[in-house]
Amino acid sequence: MKSYITTPIYYVNGSPHIGHAYTSIVADIMKRNRRALGYDMMLSTGVDEHGQKNQEAAAALGMEAIAYLDMRCKEFREVFDLFDVDYDYFVRTSRDAHKAAVASMEQTIFDKDLIVKKEYTGKYCKGCEEFKRDSDLTEDGDCGLHPTMKIEESKEINYFLKMEPFREKLLQHIEDHPDFVQPNAFRNELKKMLAEPLEDLCISRPKSRVTLGVELPFDPDFVTYVWFDALANYLTTINWPEGDYSAWWAECEHLIGKDILKPHGVYWPIMLMAAGIPLPKKLSVHSHWTGEGGIKMSKSIGNVVDPNEVMDLMGVDALRWYLARHMRAESDSQISVELIRQTYNSELGNKIGNLLSRVAKFSNKNFDGKVPVAGALTAEDEALRKLVLEAAAGFGEWIDMPDIPARIQAIVAAADVMNEYIDQQAPWSLFKNEDTRERCATVLHVTLDCQRVLFEALRQVIPGSAEKALAMLNAPAPASPWKAELDKLPGGNPLGEIDSLFPRVNAPEA
Ligand code: MSP
Repeated sequence: MKSYITTPIYYVNGSPHIGHAYTSIVADIMKRNRRALGYDMMLSTGVDEHGQKNQEAAAALGMEAIAYLDMRCKEFREVFDLFDVDYDYFVRTSRDAHKAAVASMEQTIFDKDLIVKKEYTGKYCKGCEEFKRDSDLTEDGDCGLHPTMKIEESKEINYFLKMEPFREKLLQHIEDHPDFVQPNAFRNELKKMLAEPLEDLCISRPKSRVTLGVELPFDPDFVTYVWFDALANYLTTINWPEGDYSAWWAECEHLIGKDILKPHGVYWPIMLMAAGIPLPKKLSVHSHWTGEGGIKMSKSIGNVVDPNEVMDLMGVDALRWYLARHMRAESDSQISVELIRQTYNSELGNKIGNLLSRVAKFSNKNFDGKVPVAGALTAEDEALRKLVLEAAAGFGEWIDMPDIPARIQAIVAAADVMNEYIDQQAPWSLFKNEDTRERCATVLHVTLDCQRVLFEALRQVIPGSAEKALAMLNAPAPASPWKAELDKLPGGNPLGEIDSLFPRVNAPEA
């Protein structure tokens, strides 16, 4: 069983931001989930190094393109390492084998007479790196996605891929494969994009304007349009065309933000059809993060969330938790450092982490540093165990991108019930009386074992903290493949060193 998950490859015209962090962290959660289920996994993420935007960013710093790209690539890689993104392959489109494969794909399509050369006058958005129709622009003539970047008039000779011959076939593919695009809102959006005849896609840029790119194999005066080059990464990563790529390709799922649905849902499938390559299995689309109040994040408003700032203030798992838990499937979600801090303190701190340290510390102190040994279980114990098992079991099943928040919510709900259980059972009082000491041991054992199951599941979401929690419990190594199971924390086992898992974070001084 194989699964190949891709993230977009990110433009390197700036530092990694929260949107980049989001898609790559979600991809990592899905990888950890599927690996727990026993799948062979391939996760690719990386950087998109070509195009005008990157070229201008290098020039603005007065740097040679290669030195600039190396610098940014290192920065992105380091950030993804800090985010605990367990990628198998880090994409760089400046790699020679990638460039050669892109050129070979172009030559194949060119040889089928599907690429034409012609003059084109149009409006160009550098942010999207694409030509726009008037109907794509706002009333002020700006690009809705990049209102601060000026639309440029351009009149150029370029190469174009014929798109219209493939439109009906692509629509049919979407009809025949209801899961090809998910969630449904984005499937419908894509169908709308394909409802009208498609213009030819400009797939080149003259070297007089852009030099940072893959030279066209059939005309050395041009480089490849950055999107054509970038999309091909999903194949070149698995060694297309020479290598043994087909088993991975058959299981490929692209994770993308809604801003890049058109390149992935229209351009890419048509490029593949033109080259005679099967389409990927699935496109999973997510909405965007906005600032508080639903306002688009921007440097001028000052509501941009810097992932590094969040990491420094509260650690990687505060960031992973918020991103994984609070994205809604079909509409934008809000984020700010303050929202992340409050969620971290209330959920990870108060509901999940404190319970572990309270119960583990009490057991450690009163039961000789060991997990207490349970006696007979009551109906309350069994009810809690059942609920916890069901919540954790959500991570022993296949998780698609839109499922993640609800699966985490089930864990939070189970933690709530566990807190109520502890308050009601009050092991601290039970311990005081010789007669109820055995009951106290049972309550503690039930709770510690339930926490073990929850933290085993949470290894998929907050791996660093979950492993730390399991080490505090001195829990035996979880089985692989994994499924949620009770009674794996033996009574009488020594506990590990107990520390605070999610120390409280106060608001930074204004
Ligand atoms: N280089 C192209 C992608 C090529 S893939 C073959 C590109 N790069 S990008 O740097 O602009 O990153 C786009 C991706 O970043 C989005 O699709 C999404 O994954 C993520 N996000 C960017 N802004 C975002 C938010 N505000 N919220 C969530 N994710 C968003 O486009």
